[in-house]
Amino acid sequence: MDRPTLYITRLLPQPVLEAIPKDYRILAGTTDHSPTADELRRGFAEADAVICTLSDAIDASLLSEATRLKVIANYAVGYNNIDVPAATQRGVIVTNTPDVLTDATADLTWALLLGVARRLVEGDRWLRRGGWPGWSPTQLLGADISGKTLGIIGMGRIGQAVAKRASGFQMRVIYTGRHTVASPPDVTWVHQPLDAVLAQSDFLSLHVPLNTATHHLIGARELGLMKPTAFLINTSRGAVIDESALIAALETKSIGGAALDVYAQEPHVPTALTSLSNVVLLPHLGSATLETRVRMGLICLRNIAAVLEGRPAPNQVNRGVPQR
Ligand code: GLV
Ligand code: GLV
Repeated sequence: MDRPTLYITRLLPQPVLEAIPKDYRILAGTTDHSPTADELRRGFAEADAVICTLSDAIDASLLSEATRLKVIANYAVGYNNIDVPAATQRGVIVTNTPDVLTDATADLTWALLLGVARRLVEGDRWLRRGGWPGWSPTQLLGADISGKTLGIIGMGRIGQAVAKRASGFQMRVIYTGRHTVASPPDVTWVHQPLDAVLAQSDFLSLHVPLNTATHHLIGARELGLMKPTAFLINTSRGAVIDESALIAALETKSIGGAALDVYAQEPHVPTALTSLSNVVLLPHLGSATLETRVRMGLICLRNIAAVLEGRPAPNQVNRGVPQR
């Protein structure tokens, strides 16, 4: 095969760029920005392999012009940004980056949980504004975490990593998901129907992939089942929640608060959310540690090398790709 062309839609951390095999021809922008539709089209038209991100929408029309393309390595565990059936139909292998970001994402989920329960961001903002008059018995009172009930929706790798961390807080863990999972020694994770998890949780955390079955999984009805003191945490995908229903629930205080890392229309965040004090808002940082982002890049490269060399890709998400 000629020198393979690798199109990378975004600038990746330096150690990843340095690990790209020297015989690849690299197509990349010189500055980091979300590629324009034209840039994406040109990149896909020339590439044998692509590394793209969760904010790049890879649709059938883009794929129809990608005549040389053999593999799309999505720089994310979630791959809802890619029309996978269209890729499969064209014989393009799609891969993701599971496992390496599980701990980073579970850690950030806990940062959000702790942050919203203990009013961390509100406190920081208040102090910086210079308004803090000194300690008071009734100031910025939050909610206890220890001993409470943590509800997890989607008990995959990340859901389980979040649940494991709850042991240190002596929390009761309940979850809903397609499968029951084994609890670690000394704790019991209880599998329950969705509505029971919604009704009993003090903290509810979402860890499902976004697909047609999970789109707006949490809407007005589900929010209505939650305790008025409960906090909703989302580090999965924004569209798993009906954002307007969430805003209504927060405005009417039918739930205690929310801590979000993801939004339905990123990077757009509704002003109704940014103007509420009982929410913590992060700019999609789930996997954002240097170590994790380097590991994600190396996995992308490993998958690409496998496909280009005719070996099975370790993290292929589409089965049954026809040979070409
Ligand atoms: C991040 O959101 C990912 O899916 O990796
Ligand atoms: C993703 O890695 C998950 O299974 O939660």
